[in-house]
Amino acid sequence: MALENQKVAVVTGSSSGIGLETSLLLARNGICTYATMRDLNKANLIKKMTEKEDISLKFIDMNVNEDDSVIRAFEKIHDESKRIDFLINNAGFGLFGALEDLSIENIKKQFETNFFGAVRTIQQVLPRMRIQKNGIIVNISSLAGYVGFPTQSAYASTKFALEGLCESLAYEVEPYGIKVVLVEPGIIKTKFVENMIIPDNTRLISSSLLISSDRSSSAEIPSTSTTNSNSSDDNKSPREVTEYADVVKRFLSHYYYAVRKGPDPKQVAEVIFESIKMSVASANRGNFFRYPVGQDAKSYLEAKMKMNDSELHSFVAKRTLS
Ligand SMILES: NC(=O)c1ccc[n+]([C@@H]2O[C@H](COP(=O)([O-])OP(=O)(O)OC[C@H]3O[C@@H](n4cnc5c(N)ncnc54)[C@H](OP(=O)(O)O)[C@@H]3O)[C@@H](O)[C@H]2O)c1
Repeated sequence: MALENQKVAVVTGSSSGIGLETSLLLARNGICTYATMRDLNKANLIKKMTEKEDISLKFIDMNVNEDDSVIRAFEKIHDESKRIDFLINNAGFGLFGALEDLSIENIKKQFETNFFGAVRTIQQVLPRMRIQKNGIIVNISSLAGYVGFPTQSAYASTKFALEGLCESLAYEVEPYGIKVVLVEPGIIKTKFVENMIIPDNTRLISSSLLISSDRSSSAEIPSTSTTNSNSSDDNKSPREVTEYADVVKRFLSHYYYAVRKGPDPKQVAEVIFESIKMSVASANRGNFFRYPVGQDAKSYLEAKMKMNDSELHSFVAKRTLS
């Protein structure tokens, strides 16, 4: 990437997965990169990688759920660097499970991070980017940002909301030379599953399927085991086993198998970097871009564009529930 002056990037959720790989890739390409994370104790892995490669990254703690944390982080970054060229909104997690089993409290937490987290950081960079008269805001949405899958009603809602926000925002910031990008990965092999929150009455099913996806590609469903997935802290007393066990089992067995076979987060990092280069190169041509990542994301996007709603519904059911 040809950069006359050193550009400054801020990446949220850099402790693992897509955020970690994106921070490294931007730094490797000469961009002054702030790898932010909510717990700096988790920076050890990325620090080791930068030392090995002899590249430089800056680390700042930022919990995107908290106003003060976000404001403090951006003040520090701006004091040091005087500009922010690229914001990569990556921090996020999945709340999976049948809607009837999810507490409002957990659905709000899901929105707090995946949606309001991005709102907070965008509101921090906009005044600066407006004055600079340029900037690129890259938002990590998902394949679940344009197709709703079983057990993902809460997660998909946050990503659909993020997509709507970006589509609208692009018009407002266009006069200031600010571009808005949505990167929409399909299933990627990261710690996403490990960090997922699921309702208590779904844990046993989920952990059994995780183990069976580890053992075989046919994802049979054993009856008991432990789980890696986070428990929900629902206040309501859940049924012991979800009434939606059938659809949950079918979908998660497909999903966990696909995660195991999923592409490396480096692929997403490369598309994020490509999206930045394309946005820089496009200068005054267009200011809103979408980038699906992975074969699954591309084929579902194509299906969404070609099919009517009921065709798409059957297509998703056939691919994920049969
Ligand atoms: N993996 C996939 O299949 C996939 C597909 C489509 C989209 N995505 C999206 O990609 C993004 C990155 O996920 P990933 O796959 O790389 O999973 P990951 O390895 O679990 O990484 C998620 C990152 O977000 C951080 N995070 C969570 N809550 C945060 C908060 N309140 N403040 C700051 N950071 C927070 C995590 O930090 P901690 O280490 O502190 O938890 C972690 O660094 C997410 O937005 C996800 O929705 C993932």
